[in-house]
Amino acid sequence: GARPTTADHILAIDQGTTSTRAIVFDSKGVPRGSSQLEHRQLFPAPGWVEHDAAEIWRNAQSVIEGAMRQAGVAAESIAAVGITNQRETVVLWDRATGEPVANAIVWQDTRTQAIVDRLAEGHGINRYTEATGLPLSTYFSATKILWLFEQHPELRERAERGEVLFGTTDSWLLWNLTGGAGGGVHATDVTNASRTLLMDLRTLDWDATILGELGIPRAMLPEIRSSSETYGAVASGSPLDGVPVAGILGDQQAATFGQAAFSRGEVKNTYGTGNFLIVNTGTEIVRSKHGLITTVAYQLGEQPAAYALEGSIAVTGSLVQWLRDNLGLISSSAEVEQLAASVEDNGGVQIVPAFSGLFAPHWRPDARGVIVGLTRYATKAHFARAALESTALQTWEVLEAADADAAAPLEELRVDGGMTANSLLMQFQSDLLGVPVVRPKVTETTALGAAYAAGLAVGLWSGLDELREHWQEDARWEPRMPVEERDRRRRVWRKAVERTLDWVD
Ligand code: G3P
Repeated sequence: GARPTTADHILAIDQGTTSTRAIVFDSKGVPRGSSQLEHRQLFPAPGWVEHDAAEIWRNAQSVIEGAMRQAGVAAESIAAVGITNQRETVVLWDRATGEPVANAIVWQDTRTQAIVDRLAEGHGINRYTEATGLPLSTYFSATKILWLFEQHPELRERAERGEVLFGTTDSWLLWNLTGGAGGGVHATDVTNASRTLLMDLRTLDWDATILGELGIPRAMLPEIRSSSETYGAVASGSPLDGVPVAGILGDQQAATFGQAAFSRGEVKNTYGTGNFLIVNTGTEIVRSKHGLITTVAYQLGEQPAAYALEGSIAVTGSLVQWLRDNLGLISSSAEVEQLAASVEDNGGVQIVPAFSGLFAPHWRPDARGVIVGLTRYATKAHFARAALESTALQTWEVLEAADADAAAPLEELRVDGGMTANSLLMQFQSDLLGVPVVRPKVTETTALGAAYAAGLAVGLWSGLDELREHWQEDARWEPRMPVEERDRRRRVWRKAVERTLDWVD
């Protein structure tokens, strides 16, 4: 039935790599209440990264409650729920019990290197690029599913019978929100499906040839739907009882949507655990010649999908966390800026954080991190500075690839994500790129994008033009670094990157 007209808020769930968040937005796209919980990062072996999907679902339930409480709204005031999520991460669960059958294997995890090598043998890493837009890499979902099948052969049989289901965390949350083992909706959206290595970009359906060659049963896969439509209603027992779930976007696509980068050629860069640069290419499927991947940007209901080129960088913000948690150089992530600013420069230190290999534009899963340029002079402040600089330098590499692929070079870069609070980094970013860097007022663009997709589906907003009007500039950094210095920094970085390659034989 029609929901009351007082329902003029949207609740967005942002299920990220390190935390799960809920934010209640009003009809102007302004956040009114939010709540956030971190979940455990499990590192059982070098290169392995896991999450407990049951913990993530528990956290989602409590942040929903927390955000609604803070915003002072009940289900009656919420027109729809939007979901956005860390992409690629694999959850397998038991349809009957609703329990995960194994820990989730996270997108950063590189344990499937041998499977990747096997699949690439005789074909090269572009074996499935024509259909999927992706190179073979440990990054995407498919090889993670195969790894679980190889470890537990009974899982494949159970998956064939439809007893074990696959989903990225959007599907996992949707299924649970809409009733779980009692009849949850098993679906995903085109953007998330485009990260599995199993979807054909052109048909927006699972690719039968790839499924056949890999031995992944279709019965375990969610239905692929658009990014903005009603998938189902939240089941009773939740404070959102009866509210339609009406938007799903992978987090980087959601940030693109939240930045109102709806037109062909518009670009955003998000600074999270990793960095993800997305160039909207409109309804055209553009193939990169310089190491970017092709992905779906969004699809609104029955409309044709919009596509994008993406430069994915695995490790940026998570390098700061590593300085904090593994080396103990800082006690909070925010401290890194102060520490970095306490020295004039990096003292010759360069860090290339190839912890998950190198993603775009290199696609070298075998790369490993290096710290070069060490002398007795180097201090932890130089490390902090080098860590921030590595974020900007990796971004420069993917932007260079995007410029080489596009006809026209970028004029300015729209940024969002936690690290954009860091002025030292933003200035260095602008210096390195030689273009202005611009940050919007609402930097929660990921959650905002999911809210937009959900609100559009239920008619809270009239269309993209109305959403464009919500976008407001908050800060801008102009390039100041002399060109010779900029070029020197770029050159030194390239040298440091070379040191990460062919490290392990
Ligand atoms: O592709 C991985 C990406 O979706 C993860 O984003 O912000 O959760 O680190 P984030």
